[in-house]
Order: sequence, then C-alpha cells, then structure tokens
Amino acid sequence: MFRTDLLQDKRVLITGGGTGLGKGMAHRFLELGATVHICGRREEVLEKTAAELSPKGTIHAIPCDVRSLEAVEAMIDSIWSEAPLDILVNNAAGNFIARTEELSPGAWNSVIGIVLMGTLNCTMACGRRWLKSAHPGTVLSISATYAPVGSAYVVPSAVSKAGVEALTRSLAVEWGNRGIRMNAIAPGPIPTQGAFSRVLPHPGLEKIALERNPQHRFGTVEELANLAAFLVSDGSGYINGEVIRMDGGEFLQGAGEFSSLGRVLTEEDWQAIKPKKSAPKNG
Ligand code: HXC
Ligand code: NAP
Repeated sequence: MFRTDLLQDKRVLITGGGTGLGKGMAHRFLELGATVHICGRREEVLEKTAAELSPKGTIHAIPCDVRSLEAVEAMIDSIWSEAPLDILVNNAAGNFIARTEELSPGAWNSVIGIVLMGTLNCTMACGRRWLKSAHPGTVLSISATYAPVGSAYVVPSAVSKAGVEALTRSLAVEWGNRGIRMNAIAPGPIPTQGAFSRVLPHPGLEKIALERNPQHRFGTVEELANLAAFLVSDGSGYINGEVIRMDGGEFLQGAGEFSSLGRVLTEEDWQAIKPKKSAPKNG
C-alpha cells in the first residue's frame, strides 16, 4: 500500500507499543523504515515485542508509566540525548466496563491518569522540545468513536478521550504555525486481548457489536496501522486537527434515525409500503 521508504529516517515513540494496536503500528512503521521506541509499564512485555520485531528494523523498549510526568520527562530526555523524535503516537490507554455509580475515586484516577494525563504528559514533553528547537513534529493520538458523544459504562474513558480530542484540535491551531501537526484516529472495535477482555468480556457482547456494524465485522490491526502510517507521514502534511473515524460505518449506523429498518422490516413490509401501481389510462 505504501512505498517502503515512507517513514525512512523518522524517529517514532509509540506509547503502549508493547501490545495490541501499538505493537501493530510499531511493526508497520518499522517495515516503512522508521526507528521505533515503544513504552509501557511492563518491561518483560516490551522486551518480548522488541525482540520479535527487531528483524524488521531498529526498535527500542523503554519502561515508562505515562501517568508520571517525571518518568515521561526522563524517557523523553533519554531519547533526545541521541536525536529528537519526529513522531509521537499517544496510544497507551486503560479502560473497563463498569456501572458509573460504582466507580471508586481510584478507578477514575487510573483511567484519566493513563488516557488524558498520559497523553498530555507525552505531548507537552515532545511539543516543548520541538518548539524550542524549531524541529517539526507530528502527534497522532488514538481516541475512540464514543469520544464526541460519550458512552454509558465506559465513562472515565469517554471523558478522557473527549479531552484528548480537544487537545488535538486546540494544539493543531496553537502550534500549527510552528511545524507541529496534531491528529487522531477514532477506531471502532478491533480485536486485541487488552481491549476485548475489558470492554467486551463475553462472546454475547461481541455478537451485539458485530450486529450493529454495517460491515458485520471488526476492524483489523493492519487497517489501523496503515491509516496511522499515512497520517504521520509527510505526504499528509496538510491534515491537521482531524479525528479520523475508522469503524466500518458503525457510528453512523447508530446515529441514523432509520438505520435499524433493514433489520426490522420484512420483504412483505417493503412491498406493502410501496405505492400501488395505478391502472394504465386509456385515452
Ligand atoms: C471497576 C475497577 C475495575 C473494573 C479496576 N478497577 N478494574 N473498578 N471495575 N473492572 C479499579 C480498581 O479497583 C482500583 O480502584 C482502580 O481501578 C485501579 O485499579 P488497578 O488494577 O490498581 O490499576 P492499574 O494496575 O493501574 O490498572 C489500570 C486499569 C487496567 C485501567 C484498571 O485495566 C489496565 O492496566 N489497563 C491497561 C490496558 C487497557 O485497559 N486496555 C484497553 C484499552 S481499550 P481502587 O479504589 O482500589 O484504587 C479502549 C477502547 C476500547 O480504551 C473501545 C472498544 C470499541
Ligand atoms: P492494549 O493492548 O491493552 O493497549 C494498551 C497499552 O497501553 C498496553 O500496551 C499497556 O501496557 C499500555 N499502558 C497502559 N497503561 C499505561 C501507562 N500508565 N503507561 C504506559 N503504558 C500504559 O489495547 P489496544 O486495543 O491495543 O488499545 C490501544 C489504543 O487503542 C488505546 O488508546 C485504546 O483506547 C484504543 N482503542 C482500541 C480499540 C479496540 O477495539 N482495540 C477501539 C478504540 C480505541 P502496560 O500494561 O504494560 O503498561
């Protein structure tokens, strides 16, 4: 789909790059010539991913909890001590389904800390350095389709992703005149162990998710990684401040007043609704 040198000489950090979508993006970016750094809390997971992907190119694993500004600054300093990053992908997240009235303050803090504060910490750490040295940079954040409308049962995540999208659109304008691009992807469901074990924790829920999608399938890690590669590449340099939804049309199906008619009305119903043909008039 792309020239194999699309991301040649680009230095990328993918938060949460040891698993799931982050790992998929790391794989694709390496194939396209980038040098990739991945971070996450679990060192053994990062090292395993780095070892698996290292035949594809240069990949570095850095244990870091993005909730801690101190830890993020130390990670970014260590990367910058070799050379500046060109691309930041805010992908790390925490999420689970729960009835909101039962959430403890710790549960709120945990998700908001990872998703919103983690994204802020990494974006500010890179952004300040890019601005100071007039180095161009691009930030891609992974949001979710429910960010603009909210969603029951994942409220800490919805609140945080909405903040991430506001950050994306705001800084696209504030920093856009100084060589920094800000964009986001809002994916629909894509099977990963981390996400599906927490937000679709039994097969009945997966069936419902498939039924409410016009394409009746989930997205793939490869589809997400290709869109991400396009958005972080220089070829998409005029795309700034956008949130690209990638969900097979699921969001629109949920929004359309009459979307469910195709499942509800029978062939006989449609025939009965049609206007009756009037008898031909003979002069
Ligand atoms: C209610 C819960 C809970 C649950 C944890 N908590 N799980 N409360 N229901 N299912 C509470 C705990 O009791 C604790 O509260 C607080 O949250 C912190 O929990 P810890 O386990 O101590 O936190 P931590 O080890 O930091 O783990 C963070 C986590 C965990 C978010 C809770 O799930 C995690 O590590 N997630 C990372 C990966 C992930 O979530 N991936 C999915 C992304 S999918 P107290 O009161 O004791 O402090 C996604 C979009 C999917 O974002 C969209 C699909 C369409
Ligand atoms: P995942 O495999 O669980 O990925 C989450 C990653 O974040 C893990 O590698 C995790 O590693 C890391 N992480 C969590 N807390 C962290 C912290 N405090 N500091 C650093 N890293 C942390 O799930 P995924 O499905 O790939 O999700 C990736 C992104 O896509 C997330 O932003 C998610 O919201 C978004 N998304 C996914 C879907 C989907 O259906 N898969 C749909 C919409 C949006 P550690 O646990 O080792 O820290």
